[in-house]
Amino acid sequence: MLASEIAQSLAERLSHIRRDFHMHPELSFKEFDTSSKIAKILTEAGIEIVDHGLSTGVVGLLRTGKPGPTIALRGDIDALPIEEQNDVEYKSRVPGVMHACGHDIHTTVVLGAALVLSKMKDQLTGNVKFLFEPAEEINAGAKAMLDAGVMENPHVDAIFGVHNQPDIPAGMVGVKAGALMAAVDTIGISVSGVGGHGALPHRTVDPIVAGAAIVLNLQTAVSRNTSPLEPLVVSIGTFQAGTANNVIPDRVQMTGTVRTFNPELRDAMPSTLSRIVENTAQALGATAQLSYRRDLPAVINSKEYANIAAGAVVAVCGEGNVVDPVPSMGGEDFALFLEKAPGCFLWLGVGNRERGIVNQWHHPRFDADESSLPVGAAVLAQCVIDTNKFLKK
Ligand code: NI
Repeated sequence: MLASEIAQSLAERLSHIRRDFHMHPELSFKEFDTSSKIAKILTEAGIEIVDHGLSTGVVGLLRTGKPGPTIALRGDIDALPIEEQNDVEYKSRVPGVMHACGHDIHTTVVLGAALVLSKMKDQLTGNVKFLFEPAEEINAGAKAMLDAGVMENPHVDAIFGVHNQPDIPAGMVGVKAGALMAAVDTIGISVSGVGGHGALPHRTVDPIVAGAAIVLNLQTAVSRNTSPLEPLVVSIGTFQAGTANNVIPDRVQMTGTVRTFNPELRDAMPSTLSRIVENTAQALGATAQLSYRRDLPAVINSKEYANIAAGAVVAVCGEGNVVDPVPSMGGEDFALFLEKAPGCFLWLGVGNRERGIVNQWHHPRFDADESSLPVGAAVLAQCVIDTNKFLKK
């Protein structure tokens, strides 16, 4: 049987599995029940659980016993602190916690691929590793897994990951060679002035006015310093200052996020932004400093594996169902796995306009069309089968 046929035969079970995860979401690094459910399903399918000393998250290993490559599939498993507003029978049973990013979908489709591949073991060589990552939402899970050595013993030669995408209809999958999701960095800015009476601004150095000028001037990093053909976002998310309406404070604190695709542009950002921050403050008599923290690299899919993934989508979904997606300035810590092994991150279509399944990630009414579950499972399984053939050559 083909991977797609086996996956279709599992459709009802996958929906049941997904709803169980959806009803019992757990926050980052608290995925204890989720992890034990995953381990149970893998174990029942004859897949070994490898203990890497992780408190949550699961690593499964399907050994064929034949020499060959090790190919990994990764799904993240954590939920968000959001109160679900969907009125569905499988609504979250945990107040204030919801699978609003669809990691229940990712967990289910990677489990589905494991179930499919466990039945197709004789067509494979080497090993398949299943990485169920905790704490993706706080950008910590991939790092924890890599520190625990999940890409070794056996060494992973190629990796695929998946995120649902409500903007893509169920039955279609987005595949893109090159940059798909942005590098994520965090900035902090502190502005110092001289406080005083709001009625006597000439006797102060107003850090709020300097801070406001900094916020505006930072946008020139995007519009005047960077090619219009090169994606860049600089957003200030917090701006904190002051204690009373008639007091000019002596300090402003800001934090923000910087998103890039191009690694060279990313490397240039600390000096570009520092120059704007420090000199804008200086022009107004204040002083300011920028701190810059590199959080995650961009998700950059290899051409070879994007080709394999596109072929897998055609095999499972048919011609015309590979979407060339518009990349997102959102980040994904799957990027850290791609630094260790080449691979491809796919966007699984879960949208369904007629059924009102249109809300984006982190929305309290986020949902997914469950017909995407066997599709995702089959596509990932097919990616493994085709990569296995490709690496054997
Ligand atoms: Ni997510």
